[in-house]
Amino acid sequence: MPTALTDLCRHPIVQAPMAGGASSPELAAAVSTAGGLGFLAAGYKTADGMYQEITQVRGLTDRPFGVNLFMPQPELADAAAVEVYREQLAGEATWYETELGDTAGSADDGYDAKLAVLREDPVPVVSFTFGCPDRKTLQALDRVGTYTVVTVTTAAEARAAQEAGADAVCVQGIEAGGHQGTHRDDPHSDGTGAGVGLLTLIAEVREDVRLPVIAAGGLMRGAQIAAVLAAGAAAAQLGTAFLACPESGAHPLHKQALTDPLFTRTELTRAFSGRPARGLVNRFLREHGPYAPAAYPAVHYLTSPVRKAAAKAGDPQAMSLWAGQGHRLARQLPASGLMETLVAELAAARDQLNPSGAAGTGPLGSAS
Ligand SMILES: Cc1cc2nc3c(=O)[nH]c(=O)nc-3n(C[C@H](O)[C@H](O)[C@H](O)COP(=O)(O)O)c2cc1C
Repeated sequence: MPTALTDLCRHPIVQAPMAGGASSPELAAAVSTAGGLGFLAAGYKTADGMYQEITQVRGLTDRPFGVNLFMPQPELADAAAVEVYREQLAGEATWYETELGDTAGSADDGYDAKLAVLREDPVPVVSFTFGCPDRKTLQALDRVGTYTVVTVTTAAEARAAQEAGADAVCVQGIEAGGHQGTHRDDPHSDGTGAGVGLLTLIAEVREDVRLPVIAAGGLMRGAQIAAVLAAGAAAAQLGTAFLACPESGAHPLHKQALTDPLFTRTELTRAFSGRPARGLVNRFLREHGPYAPAAYPAVHYLTSPVRKAAAKAGDPQAMSLWAGQGHRLARQLPASGLMETLVAELAAARDQLNPSGAAGTGPLGSAS
C-alpha cells in the first residue's frame, strides 16, 4: 500500500492526465513501465469507459498508475449567454457542415459513478481537478489504499486540499497546457493577470502546507524538472511533453502543431469549453475567445461537433490545440525514450548544481 510518492514511481516524473484521448492506456502504461507515474484521464468518459481503460493499463503494466477525475461543476448560471454564443458560432457550424452541440451534457461528469468504481476496484492513485473533494470521499479512497492528489492553482486551494485530507497537491502554474484546475471559476479574474507562475506558486504553497507537491506547467526538459525539485517539489507533472509521443492519442494535427512555426504562442481561453484553458492561438480562439461565456461544460458540448468536424477535415484552425507555454520544446519520442532522456537530463542538471554530491558546493552554492 503506497504511503509516499516515492513508493509509486522510481523517477519523480508524472505523465499528466489529458482528457480528450491524449493520455491513452498505452501512454500511461509506457510511462509507468519506464519508472514514471502514468495517468488516465476519466474526464468526459462514462464510468464504464474509464473502467475499460483501467483494465487495459493493468494488462500492459504491473506498475502503479493514476486516474484523474473532474469535480462536479455548479449548475449553469447563465443559459442565455450560451444561446448568444450559439448564435455567434452559427457560421462555424455551416462552414464545417455540422450542427452545434447539445449543451445539456452532464455537469457532474458521472462523478459519483466513477468514484463508486474506484472504491470497488481501487487504483494506486486518484487525482482531482476543478475543485476539492470532501473529507469523506478522500477518506474512503484512503481506506482502500489509494493515494489522493488535488490540483491547486493558489495557496488557498492548497490549504483547502490539506484540510480535506489529500495526500498531495498538484501545483499547476499559469504556464500549463489545457484547463486550469481552479476550484471556483471566476470570470471577474479574466484578463487581470491573476494567474501565478509555477516557481512562485510552489514557494507560496510550500510556505502554507506540508503536503508533497507535484509541480505542473511548462516543464519540457530534465533541467526544468531539477529546478522544480530544487524549489521543493517532490515530482514534476508533464502534459505537453508527453502529448507528442506516438503512444499519445492526441490527433496527429495537434501533435504537429506543437512545433509548427505557424503557431507562435499560447493563450488562456474560454472559446472551446467555457473555462480558462491554455491552447495554441488559432483562428477559432482568436475570433471567438473574446466572446465566450463562463459556462463550463456547456460550451465544451456546444463546440464539440465543430472541433470534431475541423479535425476530420484536416483543419487545425478550429480544433482545441491545448498546449503549455513550452510547446516548441516538444520532442516526438516514444514514451520510454522520452522518459530515458528526461531522466538523463535531470541527472546532468543535478550534477551541475551539486558536482561533488555535497550540499552547497554547486555553482549556485559556492560562488565567490
Ligand atoms: C491536452 C491536455 C489535456 C489535459 N487534460 C487534463 C485533465 O483531464 N485533467 C487534469 O487534471 N489536467 C489536464 N491537463 C493539464 C495537465 O494536468 C497539466 O497541468 C499540464 O499539462 C501541465 O502543463 P504542460 O502541458 O505545460 O506540461 C491537460 C493538459 C493538456 C495539454
